Amino acid sequence: MKLINSISFLFAALLILVPNSIIAVLPGTWPPLNAPPPANANYTKLVNTTKLRNAPVNKVNATCPTTDQYCYWTCSTCTRNDTDIIRCPNKLDWGLTLDDGPTSFTTSVLDYLDTQNIKVTFFVIGSNVYTNPDILLRAYKAGHQIGVHTWSHNQLTTQTTEVVIAELMYTRDAIKAAINATPKYMRPPYGDYDDRIRDISTQLGMKPTIWDLDTNDWMSAEDPTFNLNWIAANFTQWVADPTLTATGHISLEHDLYNQTAAQIPIVVPILKKANYTIKPVSQCINDPYPYVESVVTPTAVATPTTRASAPTPTTDTSQIRGSPTQHAVTSTTPTSGIIFFPDVNGCFGKAIN
Ligand SMILES: *[C@@H]1O[C@H](CO)[C@@H](O)[C@H](O)[C@H]1NC(C)=O
Ligand SMILES: *[C@@H]1O[C@H](CO)[C@@H](O)[C@H](O)[C@H]1NC(C)=O
Ligand SMILES: *[C@@H]1O[C@H](CO)[C@@H](O)[C@H](O)[C@H]1NC(C)=O
Ligand SMILES: *[C@@H]1O[C@H](CO)[C@@H](O)[C@H](O)[C@H]1NC(C)=O
Ligand SMILES: *[C@@H]1O[C@H](CO)[C@@H](O)[C@H](O)[C@H]1NC(C)=O
Ligand SMILES: *[C@@H]1O[C@H](CO)[C@@H](O)[C@H](O)[C@H]1NC(C)=O
Ligand SMILES: *[C@@H]1O[C@H](CO)[C@@H](O)[C@H](O)[C@H]1NC(C)=O
Ligand SMILES: [Zn+2]
Repeated sequence: MKLINSISFLFAALLILVPNSIIAVLPGTWPPLNAPPPANANYTKLVNTTKLRNAPVNKVNATCPTTDQYCYWTCSTCTRNDTDIIRCPNKLDWGLTLDDGPTSFTTSVLDYLDTQNIKVTFFVIGSNVYTNPDILLRAYKAGHQIGVHTWSHNQLTTQTTEVVIAELMYTRDAIKAAINATPKYMRPPYGDYDDRIRDISTQLGMKPTIWDLDTNDWMSAEDPTFNLNWIAANFTQWVADPTLTATGHISLEHDLYNQTAAQIPIVVPILKKANYTIKPVSQCINDPYPYVESVVTPTAVATPTTRASAPTPTTDTSQIRGSPTQHAVTSTTPTSGIIFFPDVNGCFGKAIN
């Protein structure tokens, strides 16, 4: 009771802190924007914490451990086939992912993608969903996949389990409030995840989704010597690289900045010319259900020149809803044993992935 009271007080305080004009946008009560949300017992109880692999809560800017006991991506780019979505498995499939929106720049990306009838995946920040729910709804209605990218965009491995759960669940619920669908995919900010984060995400019914090809486009916001032409040059190089032809790929870009959003109309033609089919990540791994609800997303158009009008997501009423993982169709062999990596220093870069 005491806890409930103090939590209620906290939320009452938040209502005062958050500007009224923004409150009116997304129904519900939400934590302060762009800060790690408070633990919420209603969310915490969704996870059996005794089952989580016991990776330590990392210190910000800590050096990497000498052994990679918990498959910690930031230090080793370690991934696990049993849980992680890393690349599109099939040749000539391309999962184009855009992170950190929705922003005002997302709109121009959506305009362009509509003209091409192309669907992509947006991993969105809960705080930005709160600010721009209408832009998210437009993206969803156009048939793009929406995934969770945390509430405050902090490094998840530096947060307690209760706060990690809140980061994911407030974002999930903000997305649900905006689009009336509950995403089943998450991406850790900066790719900062380990086995504890994998287990929390999995128990919450969210598949951790990383990438295999990174444009580093975010650097354009911080490094004046970053040449925006490098982004397209990277795509041109990737589609010509014979070592990359055996599988499809998942690339990373951002709709957080005007100049990075503006690259989408430049890189899409490079992929099309190379005969790649751009699809949401869920589709490239053959999962017709990117949401808990039975929402079937429109299938990607294989022929690059086809201009069919974009179907909106429909509800598959033949499906009986069950647990969030009911429709998971991917099942890869779990990795056995632990992968060891040499010590890597300075593992906490300032990358805005
Ligand atoms: C938890 O759920 C209960 C019942 O729905 C609700 O009254 C309470 O406000 C919730 N607590 C928080 C912190 O959201
Ligand atoms: C949590 O997991 C532990 C270990 O598997 C199990 O013994 C326990 O019953 C679980 N608790 C709940 C509430 O499911
Ligand atoms: C971590 O390192 C960054 C970059 O060097 C620095 O700006 C920041 O203050 C550091 N944070 C902490 C908590 O040490
Ligand atoms: C790809 O991008 C990186 C920066 O992320 C840049 O250093 C590199 O030169 C680019 N590749 C090409 C072929 O331009
Ligand atoms: C965004 O970039 C486009 C094209 O580069 C430019 O025309 C436009 O003025 C920019 N908008 C803002 C708000 O900076
Ligand atoms: C793409 O497919 C077309 C038609 O099948 C073919 O002519 C062309 O050579 C392909 N391009 C590449 C880069 O593979
Ligand atoms: C994970 O999957 C990749 C690609 O399918 C495969 O090459 C690799 O051997 C797998 N790794 C493990 C440890 O099973
Ligand atoms: Zn990000």
